[in-house]
Amino acid sequence: MNLGYFLLISVGAWEVMTVESKLYTKCGLAHELVRCGFNKSYVGNWVCLIESESGRDTSKQTNKANGGKGLGLFQINSKEWCQFGRAGGKCNAKCEDFLDEDIAKDAACAKKIQAELGFRYWEGWNRSCYGRSYPSTIVNACFPPQSG
Ligand SMILES: *[C@@H]1O[C@H](CO)[C@@H](O)[C@H](O)[C@H]1NC(C)=O
Ligand SMILES: *[C@@H]1O[C@H](CO)[C@@H](O)[C@H](O)[C@H]1NC(C)=O
Repeated sequence: MNLGYFLLISVGAWEVMTVESKLYTKCGLAHELVRCGFNKSYVGNWVCLIESESGRDTSKQTNKANGGKGLGLFQINSKEWCQFGRAGGKCNAKCEDFLDEDIAKDAACAKKIQAELGFRYWEGWNRSCYGRSYPSTIVNACFPPQSG
């Protein structure tokens, strides 16, 4: 096959992959969360939580102990917070929407969970972020003071 055709196929495959999932970089994620309205003071805790829960992969899906699924970046539990097929659960959200590249709905639901139950809701935060200096390290690295 000629090179032009090969490139076309390669770019096409890459686009399909990025539509389905996105692997954020640490600071890419920190900036995206601030754009989604997260307070910069706590964004280090959110990034740390997400790294621990999903490895910053928007398509991550796991089985949870309560029989629900952990979905997406924040590993939001399908049993309580959303419903498959149509909007439902405590976040009145479609579970499928927590697995795509658009993190707005995930973020809104995660904020609601955090407001009700705190970061301790997330085992990954307990394990990797609570009482650690890592979250503030993230903020300093991704939002250097001199850059405003
Ligand atoms: C962000 O959090 C800090 C520390 O708790 C607080 O002082 C500040 O008012 C918050 N900012 C916004 C925009 O909520
Ligand atoms: C996190 O730790 C707190 C306090 O030790 C505990 O109450 C909570 O259940 C833990 N969260 C998870 C998800 O294990």
